[in-house]
Amino acid sequence: MSLRVRVYAVFLLFLCAWTSPSFADDMRLPDSARFPQAQAERLIKALNLMPGFADVQEEYDDGGPRLVERNINLNIGGHSGSEATLDDLGHHAGYFQLEHTHAAKMFYFFFESRGSKADDPVVLWMTGGPGCSSELAVFYENGPFKIADNLTLVWNDYGWDKVSNLIFVDQPTGTGFSYSTDVRDFRHDENGVSNDMYDFLQAFFKEHPKYANNDFFITGESYAGHYIPAVTSRVHQGNKDNKGLPINLKGFAIGNGLTDPSIQYKAYTDYALEMGLITEADYKRINKIYPACELSIKLCGTKGTISCFASYLVCNSIFSSIISIAGNINYYDVRKQCSGSLCYDFSNMEKYLNQGSVRDALGVGDRKFVSCSPTVYEAMLTDWMRNLEVGIPTLIEDGIKLLVYAGEYDLICNWLGNSRWVNSMEWSGHEDFTKAPTKPFLVDDKEAGLITSYGPLSFLKVHDAGHMVPMDQPKAALEMLKRWTQGSSLDDSSEMLETVTRSSGKSSLV
Ligand SMILES: *[C@@H]1O[C@H](CO)[C@@H](O)[C@H](O)[C@H]1NC(C)=O
Repeated sequence: MSLRVRVYAVFLLFLCAWTSPSFADDMRLPDSARFPQAQAERLIKALNLMPGFADVQEEYDDGGPRLVERNINLNIGGHSGSEATLDDLGHHAGYFQLEHTHAAKMFYFFFESRGSKADDPVVLWMTGGPGCSSELAVFYENGPFKIADNLTLVWNDYGWDKVSNLIFVDQPTGTGFSYSTDVRDFRHDENGVSNDMYDFLQAFFKEHPKYANNDFFITGESYAGHYIPAVTSRVHQGNKDNKGLPINLKGFAIGNGLTDPSIQYKAYTDYALEMGLITEADYKRINKIYPACELSIKLCGTKGTISCFASYLVCNSIFSSIISIAGNINYYDVRKQCSGSLCYDFSNMEKYLNQGSVRDALGVGDRKFVSCSPTVYEAMLTDWMRNLEVGIPTLIEDGIKLLVYAGEYDLICNWLGNSRWVNSMEWSGHEDFTKAPTKPFLVDDKEAGLITSYGPLSFLKVHDAGHMVPMDQPKAALEMLKRWTQGSSLDDSSEMLETVTRSSGKSSLV
């Protein structure tokens, strides 16, 4: 049975979706309320998918420090673009023993800025999945280095560590190198996820007090469209409650995220039709599924469980119907074909991270590295269809900035659905935002995207990019982060004046 389920729940990189062609088949899946947990436990026991799960004897309450961090030198080739030596630059890897868990340890990388450590912000990145490792971003998107075919590392000229002190966390527990020896530590919802991340951040800033006053931003991609609003709310709440160290939270950015499923699932057919992936007849036929999907999302709400799992099945049949028509496309970049289990080839990273010398350097012992954990994915199934937009208005009303950005060729978390939820969000600036002009986002005098901003809220559609914007448009992504965190506007007003006459993307696109 477990194998069967794994066949259905095909891993889709940062967001995973249902690609079974037949919805009726899907309905034969176990449907008890205990499905995800029971499934997770069976998978762990039967397949030992959990890194480190075999070391049940490993001590947890060893009385040692909760956060164990080491300096790392991964012999990066090429030029860092900084005068500083690697020792001065400060690359670290660590494990944090999570409070409020039975035996969970969270793995992270911390790369101090190649720019100005004191002035640059601290930026947290979370990859999605659920269950995909943030190392995918470290090695292929915005990390300090890239991986060459001969498995050596070379500096990334557009790493986000050029303008920030950058943290990548493997979370929730069970993702990447993060693990637990106790299955009760699996997380099933954003409460669990955000409490763990809050505990981590508290420990992190305690370990690095010199960064506690830097501006702090929360970023990530894909399923992190769920994590990011939840973690941002949790940090904001901690600050308001005056509990723990205050965290200098300034903003949050979601890249090609899943945040408001009701709006985003409706946008699938519109986007697919616009991109020529389906015909008008397909469009009409597939749209007939949507009312059931919409209703099921309502029943799921923000707290449902079994109703949310039912909703996951119903709504993802929209996506799988499109895929069954579109053929072997890469749903992260509709210009490409899908090859490999994650539609891209990330095997170099797994090879690199499973080398003994690298594992020694990182302090991860003999834990096997898995890019995307099916166990974590299944444990989070009832979280998938919940609406995470609901907590956002409070955050932006309190002056915390939000940037939603999306590569234009991604299907799975397409820009259209993201633009729609951002535009329909109710807050005091709603009206002004919807009336705000859409302007070019210029990088090197070229239009790299289209930006709409009002007050704390910005939406950026990124040209010539799929799901993984920093991988496809590294320079534009770095420029975006830099301008946004430094508080300058994303549109260049001097260049903009002649070009505003172009059709205002927003009205024609939505
Ligand atoms: C590995 O590849 C990189 C990039 O192509 C190159 O710069 C480097 O010299 C190679 N290293 C070895 C040991 O072959």
